[in-house]
Amino acid sequence: MSVFTEETRARAREIIARYPADRSRSALLPLLHLVQSEEGYVSPAGVEFCAEVLGLNKAQVGAVATFYTMYKRKPTGDYLVSVCTNTMCNVLGGQEVYDTLAEHLGVGHDETTGDGKITLEHAECLAACDYGPVMTVNYDFFDNVDPQGALGVVEELRAGGRPMPTRGARLCTLKEMAVQLAGFADEREGAVADGGPGEPTLRGVRLAEQHGISVPGFDPNTPIRSKEAEAQK
Ligand code: FES
Repeated sequence: MSVFTEETRARAREIIARYPADRSRSALLPLLHLVQSEEGYVSPAGVEFCAEVLGLNKAQVGAVATFYTMYKRKPTGDYLVSVCTNTMCNVLGGQEVYDTLAEHLGVGHDETTGDGKITLEHAECLAACDYGPVMTVNYDFFDNVDPQGALGVVEELRAGGRPMPTRGARLCTLKEMAVQLAGFADEREGAVADGGPGEPTLRGVRLAEQHGISVPGFDPNTPIRSKEAEAQK
């Protein structure tokens, strides 16, 4: 018997219906998030489920699931804490943040605390270098984080709290986040928050304005030359 509920099956049908009938395999990425939202990771049963509803084989699904780090292949904590230790964050103290959390939680990379609450991981650049060092919890950002601040966040999570990230809505669990990543609205009050770009992100634009630097206009209707047309020149 399938481990997946009828609600998940209905959602799977809804996801598949978003794509043209002859392109249903394009639904695989959101479907993997969907199965992760139910089990907390992409289990062998999850792979089998995706293969079944898309008419693929398990090897095809597994090849995709193992390619992306957002799909977890073993049970993951309620809160996935990802600390950026790439170049920019590292020189600003990211490794110190990671080491402090690892020692405090007693876990290493891709390991989960005994209470099942926190999974810690090293992350490559999280595309927020202007706020480094950064860490994310279930992909929501904590900017300019330091070891004490990071400890405060994980302790609040372990005590049952849901801290506010620097940007975005109050934290949700990894399973709740997976529902959103599968393309379904999170109905919790305050689950979604808007936010414009901050000053560190706009710094380059401000400098360009200040120095009168601009780029030539781009006409979006400019035809894109095909390789064949280029070859005939
Ligand atoms: S190096 Fe950390 S966000 Fe880019």
